[in-house]
Amino acid sequence: MELNTIESHDIGIAAEPSAGTGPTAKKVFVKTYGCQMNVYDSQRMTDALAADGYVATDAVEDADLVLLNTCHIREKAAEKVYSELGRIRDMKAERAEAGRELLIGVAGCVAQAEGAEIIRRSPAVDLVIGPQTYHRLPDVLARVRGGKKVVETEYAIEDKFEHLPQPKRAELAKRGVTAFLTVQEGCDKFCTFCVVPYTRGSEVSRPVAQIVAEAERLAEAGVREVTLLGQNVNAWHGLGENGEEWGLGRLLFRLAEIPGLARLRYTTSHPRDMDEELIAAHRDLPALMPYLHLPVQSGSDRILKAMNRRHTARDYLALIERIRAARTDIAMSGDFIVGFPGETDADFEATLELVREVNYASAFSFKYSPRPGTPGAEMDGHVAEAVKDERLQRLQGLLLKQQQDFGLSLVGKTIDTLIEKPGRQAGQKVGRSPWLQPVIVDDKAGGIGDIIDVRITRTGYNSLFAELV
Ligand code: 5AD
Ligand code: SF4
Repeated sequence: MELNTIESHDIGIAAEPSAGTGPTAKKVFVKTYGCQMNVYDSQRMTDALAADGYVATDAVEDADLVLLNTCHIREKAAEKVYSELGRIRDMKAERAEAGRELLIGVAGCVAQAEGAEIIRRSPAVDLVIGPQTYHRLPDVLARVRGGKKVVETEYAIEDKFEHLPQPKRAELAKRGVTAFLTVQEGCDKFCTFCVVPYTRGSEVSRPVAQIVAEAERLAEAGVREVTLLGQNVNAWHGLGENGEEWGLGRLLFRLAEIPGLARLRYTTSHPRDMDEELIAAHRDLPALMPYLHLPVQSGSDRILKAMNRRHTARDYLALIERIRAARTDIAMSGDFIVGFPGETDADFEATLELVREVNYASAFSFKYSPRPGTPGAEMDGHVAEAVKDERLQRLQGLLLKQQQDFGLSLVGKTIDTLIEKPGRQAGQKVGRSPWLQPVIVDDKAGGIGDIIDVRITRTGYNSLFAELV
C-alpha cells in the first residue's frame, strides 16, 4: 500500500459547509485521519448524508452527528481515535443534560479492524461503519435513530460506488480545483508489516466508464488536476469502454482527453506493478505530472524479503532508471520503515545507501509499528524503540536534505503552476508545482484554476516562492 498516511498531523478536514437545507437541518462534523483515500471517502460520506438531509459543519459544537473517519496503519494513528472519542463522549454527556442528542460514528480502517470492540471500549459510540459500506450510511443512521447501536463491517456485495450519490455541481465547485478520485481499493500484496489487506480487503478496480464519468463531472465543476487513488493504484485493471481489460497507463491516456483536465497524478504505487504502458504514459503524456510516489520501505534485500515486498533493492533502482529514461524531470518520492523486526545496523545502512542513490524529492518515513494480526508482529528480533528513534532521525535528516536540495535546484527556473487558493497573507496566492510543492505567488498572477508560468525566486521550508514572468 501505500497511500501516505501522515503520522503526526492527521488531516482534520471538516467537510465544507454546504448549501443548507434550512436552519433546522441536521449537521454533521466529519474528522478525517490518515491517507488521501480517507479524505475522498469523507467527501463521499458527506455526499451520502447530504442526500439524507445533513449539512456539513466545520464546528464540532454545532454537530448532531460526529463522524470520525479513522486510520489503522500505525498504532499511534489508531490510539488517537480513542482519545478523541473520550472528548466527544464528554460532549455527548453535556448535550444529554441539555436534552439534545449527539450521535457518534466511527468509520474507516479502525472501524473495519475493530468493529464491535469499539463500542465495548467506548460505549458512547452509536455506529461503526467500515469503508466498504459507506453507501449504506443513511440506512445505518435510520436504525441508530430507532434506538439501536449498529456495527456495519460486512463487505457489501453490491458496488459501493454505484450506490454512493454524486454531489451537486455547485458543491463540487466549492471543493477547489484539485480533486481525488478513487479508482482502486484494497490490496492483495500482503506485505508483512501492513494492515491494509485486512482493513480494505482484496483489490477491486472500478470500471473505466464509472471513472470517466466521475472525472468529467469534476472537470465540468472546474477541477483542473485529478489524483487517482488506490492502495495499489498501479495494479488497477478495469473493464474498458471497449469491453477489454485496461491498465492504468491506458486509463491515464483516456482521462487526458477530458476537456479542462490539465493535470493527472496517481498514488500510491507498488514497484512490481510499474508496467511498460504506465512508463510510456510518463514519457508521452504531458498531462501526467512528473512526480512519482513509489515506496520501497527498505534498501536491504534481507529486510525486503522479510517484508514480502518481492523485489530487491537492485530491481527498484533499475526500475527508477527506466522511469527516468522515459521522463528525465521526474521527481521521486517514497515511503520507508525503520526498525522492522530483524533490521541490523548493516540493513539500515543499506537503506541510507539506496536513498543516496535515488535522491528523493520528498519522502515519508516511519518507525515500524507492530500491527495485530500481521505476520510482522509475530516475528522475532523486534528492534528497541531507542534504536528505531535514532535510525529514523538519521534517515529523516538525509531525506530532508534531499528535499531541500531539490527545492533549491528549481531556483531561477521557470515552471508551470496551478493556482489553487488565496494565500495566508494578503496579496498572495498559493499554487502547486508539477512536483507537488506549494508555490507562493503574487495575487495578480492569475485566477484560481489558471495554470501559469512563474519563475522560482527562493525556497521556504516546504514551499517555493515565485515571481511572474
Ligand atoms: N509500521 C510503520 N509504518 C507502516 N506503514 C505501513 N504499515 C506500517 C507499519 N506497521 C507505512 C509504509 C507505507 C505507508 C503508508 O505507511 O511505509 O507505505
Ligand atoms: Fe501497500 Fe504492501 Fe500494504 Fe499492500 S500490503 S497496501 S502493497 S504496504
